[in-house]
Amino acid sequence: MTDVKVHDKIFTTFISAEKIQSRVAELGIAIDKDYSGKNPLLIGVLNGSVIFMADLLRNIKTPCEIGFIRVSSYEGTSSSGKVKSIMGLENDIQGREVIIVEDIIDTGDTALYLIEEIKKKNPASIRFATILLKPEALRHKIQCDYVGFEIPPAFVVGYGLDYDGFGRNLADIYQLKS
Ligand code: IMP
Ligand code: MG
Repeated sequence: MTDVKVHDKIFTTFISAEKIQSRVAELGIAIDKDYSGKNPLLIGVLNGSVIFMADLLRNIKTPCEIGFIRVSSYEGTSSSGKVKSIMGLENDIQGREVIIVEDIIDTGDTALYLIEEIKKKNPASIRFATILLKPEALRHKIQCDYVGFEIPPAFVVGYGLDYDGFGRNLADIYQLKS
């Protein structure tokens, strides 16, 4: 077990870089199998998905394209709470086989919103890939097609995931030390 300090908190090794790499290779094989003869469009959600996207992409042999979007959340003026908007969503999604690429699904709020918004652009299909999923934190029924690892609802960093902007560059995934 290795501890690492990110910002002002201590995290401990949780999923090794080796385990991540072999799992991502399996996801690439699954995508190749599902998209044989097709040209999927992988849409990465910035910033967290950058590392997973780069690795997943290199494990896909099917001809594919990529794009990136960013979801911004801000407190709405109404009592409904958080309002989200998407930046970078182009109009060339119509008729495409879309795979949304995320770092983590926690409550599923973001995933649900992304799927609904991308559906409006009339893609041929939408699937969801995430390196991490916290099943116990999920508040919506989300179809997660390609999941790296299911994890307990503790805070994690590394492999693109951040704590207050830091920790994305760690090759392993670390869990907050309690
Ligand atoms: P959701 O909308 O609750 O599913 O949360 C999705 C977003 O919250 C992710 O894309 C992450 O940016 C962030 N997030 C959720 N859990 C973690 C975590 O354990 N570490 C780092 N970021 C997280
Ligand atoms: Mg994110």
